[in-house]
Amino acid sequence: MTKLKWGMIGGGEGSQIGPAHRLGSGLDGLFEFAAGALDHRPEYGIDYGQRMGLGNRAYGGWEEMLAAEQKRDDKVDLVTVATPNSTHFEITKAFLEGGFNVLCEKPMTMTVEEGEAIVEIAKKTGNICAVNYGYSGYSLVRHMKAMIARGDIGKVRVVNAEFAHGHHADATDADNPRVRWRYDPAQAGVSAQFADCGIHAMHMASFVTGQEVTKLSADIVSAIPVRTLEDDAMVNFRMDGGAVGRLWTSSIAIGRQHGLGIQVFGETGGLRWSQEQPNQLFYMPLGERLQIIERGEANLSPEADRTSRVTIGHAEGMPLAFANIYKDLAEAIGARKDGRVMDPAANLYPRAEDGLRSMAAVVAVAESGKADGKWLDARPPMFR
Ligand code: NAI
Repeated sequence: MTKLKWGMIGGGEGSQIGPAHRLGSGLDGLFEFAAGALDHRPEYGIDYGQRMGLGNRAYGGWEEMLAAEQKRDDKVDLVTVATPNSTHFEITKAFLEGGFNVLCEKPMTMTVEEGEAIVEIAKKTGNICAVNYGYSGYSLVRHMKAMIARGDIGKVRVVNAEFAHGHHADATDADNPRVRWRYDPAQAGVSAQFADCGIHAMHMASFVTGQEVTKLSADIVSAIPVRTLEDDAMVNFRMDGGAVGRLWTSSIAIGRQHGLGIQVFGETGGLRWSQEQPNQLFYMPLGERLQIIERGEANLSPEADRTSRVTIGHAEGMPLAFANIYKDLAEAIGARKDGRVMDPAANLYPRAEDGLRSMAAVVAVAESGKADGKWLDARPPMFR
């Protein structure tokens, strides 16, 4: 197969997430970095793009990139949108409508209505729209999903998910413009910490259990009082397969770094995984001894084997999890080019529908939090 052509909007020099996308897309030799509008400052974007080898396909802005790429025979096969949140909808919509497949960073949109529009456009155009819940690409997360699906822990009773960090805990720094905007509704929308991190944990809960969130009740707080939006939230939820969910997310948890973790307790066993130790999965079958499953060991699931790249005992981390999302997308794009229909269960990249579900949960968390934890429907109207 010839390499697919890949482009990126945002993710410029010094950005947080750009390097992980470049590493992830390049890892398997499936994509070639061919085009980009990498920075909000045109001259910086062009300069950086040229240093990345993009030549005259280093563009000064996404509109220019869209127009120029549409005219090419070798236009990009996939565009990653790695810009700040408020621009995701406009850029994703324009590229989907312009005939491109898109991988959009989370949150996919700022409102439920925009999320529904993206799902509709993807359906109408037939273009692939993925959303980067990249942590679902970890090999042992895929294995956890496979174990739960094949009944290793029985019917799921309780899911406990969290995503806590302490990087916004300094009250004396709360007014720093680089931090302040995140808690300002005019720039961040209806939610800060849940929309930024909580949705990763909630997506993970759905991903591994194969169940969707139906309703939720939230207790939100601005632990640093000058903040309008929440910096800590506890969310209880229910899932359509009967599981009970508990989720904690925080940005004031001093000492926590990138604390995304998930525990799933079923009728006959429990599973526990954490993003900061992604190469071990803890499995406790009821009445037996605790087992530590190592990424890369023999006799794991095909899902785990497919997504493990480095020999056992060598650490694998986040850019390789992203690489698994790109591997899924390369397969999906290849199938589409060949006119083959792919079984969605065999290709697990997070869909636009997942991005939409997250937006509905974000709105429900914000509203429930304001209404003293009232239980609210967490589903987007489209899926009720
Ligand atoms: P950042 O502020 O570090 O970088 C943003 C980049 O986008 C900069 O290079 C900036 O110049 C560029 N940019 C801004 N507006 C642009 C425009 N209109 N056209 C072209 N380039 C533009 O932001 P960061 O932290 O990298 O976040 C970007 C997105 O990635 C956010 O939506 C964030 O939520 C998401 N993210 C996702 C993570 C994940 O695990 N999936 C982790 C971190 C961030």
